[in-house]
Amino acid sequence: MGDLVQFTKSGNIGVITINNPPVNALSPGVPEGIFESIEKLLTDKELKAAVLIGGGSTFIAGADIKELEKMAAGKPRGAGLLPLLLKIEDCRKPVVAAIHGTALGGGMETAMACHYRVATRSAKVGQPEVKLGIIPGAAGTQRLPRLAGVAKAVEMCSEGNPIAAQEAFELEIIDKLIDGDLLTGAIAFAQEMATKPIPKTRERNNNLGTPEQNAPSFTAARENARKKQRGLMAPLAAIDAVEAATKLPFEEGCQAEQRLFAECLSSSQAKALMHVFFAEREVAKLPDVPKDTPVIPIKTAGVVGAGTMGGGISMVLANAGIPVLVKEADQAALDRGMANIQKNYANSVKRGRFTQQFVDERLKLIQPTLSLDGFAGVDLVIEAVFEGMALKKEVFGQLEKTCKPGAVLASNTSTLSIDEIASATHRPQFVIGTHFFSPANVMRLLEIVRGKATSKEVIATCMQLSKKLGKVGVLVGNCRGFVGNRMFHPYVRESVFLLEEGATVQDVDSALYDFGMAMGPLAVGDLAGLDVGWRIRKEYRHLEKPGIRQPFAGDRLCEMGRFGQKTGAGWYKYGENRRAIPDPEVTALIRKWAAEAKIPQRQMGREEIVDRCLYALVNEGARILQEGYALRAGDIDIIYINGYGFPAHRGGPMWYADTVGLKNVYSRVLEFHKQHGELWEPAPLLKQMAEQGKTFAEYNKEQRATA
Ligand code: 3HC
Ligand code: NAI
Repeated sequence: MGDLVQFTKSGNIGVITINNPPVNALSPGVPEGIFESIEKLLTDKELKAAVLIGGGSTFIAGADIKELEKMAAGKPRGAGLLPLLLKIEDCRKPVVAAIHGTALGGGMETAMACHYRVATRSAKVGQPEVKLGIIPGAAGTQRLPRLAGVAKAVEMCSEGNPIAAQEAFELEIIDKLIDGDLLTGAIAFAQEMATKPIPKTRERNNNLGTPEQNAPSFTAARENARKKQRGLMAPLAAIDAVEAATKLPFEEGCQAEQRLFAECLSSSQAKALMHVFFAEREVAKLPDVPKDTPVIPIKTAGVVGAGTMGGGISMVLANAGIPVLVKEADQAALDRGMANIQKNYANSVKRGRFTQQFVDERLKLIQPTLSLDGFAGVDLVIEAVFEGMALKKEVFGQLEKTCKPGAVLASNTSTLSIDEIASATHRPQFVIGTHFFSPANVMRLLEIVRGKATSKEVIATCMQLSKKLGKVGVLVGNCRGFVGNRMFHPYVRESVFLLEEGATVQDVDSALYDFGMAMGPLAVGDLAGLDVGWRIRKEYRHLEKPGIRQPFAGDRLCEMGRFGQKTGAGWYKYGENRRAIPDPEVTALIRKWAAEAKIPQRQMGREEIVDRCLYALVNEGARILQEGYALRAGDIDIIYINGYGFPAHRGGPMWYADTVGLKNVYSRVLEFHKQHGELWEPAPLLKQMAEQGKTFAEYNKEQRATA
């Protein structure tokens, strides 16, 4: 049986314990171990029933995703879990799944093949496979509707969100909630059930409903999936598979599920989403900041500036239970900032995200102030004042005088050098960038910017804090725009060039939206405010090389006062509820400006629009990777997916380029270089990897090997 599964006895109850840390995934050896345990249960006459339980912190969290990745890449699948699950379900002695932590995916499927399920109150169960681009592959779509009913099964299998034990109990997925020791409770329950008839989930057809009863659930789920999981194939496949459960006998339903599972598993979406799963975990691994690096406990915090970002950051800290002092420049700004925080919280209550009680507690944690005096005691300060070096340095000079030794001093700057900001203090090792994305209380990304002197302890502290705040913290180097905005710059530049060459605003935005971006680049510009980029461009104009083409249409719109949504007009006009309306005036203006600038006009296809914008992103990403400002290609992918609305099912920009083939990307970049000049100089790393027939992912592995 190996070390992965142990079979022991507790009186007349067999105990099957899975020990495959950290999450008891069903790696090779685990299903075999459970199979052998069931054999032992059957042959041992003393035994009346068994409990299946996870060792460590959880029940089975699912199939081993590393194995799934191999299968997606072509490794033969074998029989999968289905025979084991039938073996359990057909066992003549009852088997009770005892769930703590999470029973997810194949873990949930295993639990459903058991005759009973008991759980701790803190446990969660679910079928999250769609988040990996696949569907349940071991009869989850067939057994779950038989336990929980069709509507709930459709929701759980197509949306992938786990549910809490209490809800699972109410849905009759869980038979009993156990207070106190889980194993003791499960053994007692197994003893109680040992003399009762043995229920088999696959035979419980009474929850399956009729086609008429189920039709609205399937229609609503498909509509929802098309809207909320745009472009993803797995959610629709999961709905088809649950529908098969309602129309076909169990065995045929399983066959339908297997076909759909195999289709999804071999898709580029599954490969991309599995890459994202591991990349998101890899960002936490920092080669020179070991896991055991000591961290500074963050019990209290201060935020300087209660504007758009400072307000959001204060909410993020309070939501994590950290008391926060918010300092503003004057009473009016402070009142405005606090009113915005209250309005945002009220909206969250309205939308059902938070309860009023939760919000009241959080608001008590946010203390407004006009002085830095209280900052003497805080463990962390996040500065979020206007973007300007002189002001940032002034604030850090004040923090230097006020804050206790050992406090982390962070800036939310989006463009300025952390090293220069740190130079306003005598403790640059405690200075770091924490670049939140707008709205800070919603966006998951946190770029953690390492200055030259930032200490490992401060980095480890911010990485750990990001997790506590519910963010994905990605460590980046201190270059202009850091990673995300540095890449965004050429992406937006190309989108404006395309307009100046003959595309319309809708052409550009719809091509990228259809590719899967959450919003087109021009709509994003209107949302963030076109004036932000305009001001930055004016400030940095002296750094531009003379004679190199620069986009101008956005600046001209700003000169006309069209800053985007905030002024009711930008690339688009805005109607009620900030609805974007295409503006023929903008098209006419751009045509006129282009004629004046003698830019030849032409028709362009969607493919060219996508290639121009995305390869600009990729080319800059390749430079960033080679220069070491991002640790891995996967880190860039995680930044783009969580901060810039890049579709996860395409794996992020660098993964996408790998899937297109770097040779193809490089040859397209060379074409653009020939047509559009110096701005399209291919990144040396792109050239190198393309010529060697390699991928960005391989570059990372090579780097690690030589480190
Ligand atoms: N397979 C392989 N490795 C896994 C894994 C899995 N199913 N689940 C987690 N891991 C690994 C992670 O990569 C990580 O490794 P690392 O320490 O080397 O980075 C480690 O386990 C710990 O994971 P987390 O950092 O995510 O730990 P958390 O405690 O934050 O979360 C969890 C635990 C909720 C279980 C989370 O890991 C998770 O959601 N895992 C995936 C669950 C899942 O998707 N299951 C379905 C798989 S598909 C399936 O079962 C198909 C079936 O229908 C046939
Ligand atoms: P904002 O203009 O909304 O807010 C800045 C606030 O700082 C104002 O309320 C102002 O009164 C206050 N302030 C100025 N001087 C102060 C002082 N000495 N003490 C206390 N408060 C002071 O600006 P926003 O958008 O919140 O930006 C803040 C920082 O975050 C900037 O560095 C910006 O680059 C960065 N950032 C902005 C993003 C965005 O989308 N708005 C995204 C990511 C970073």
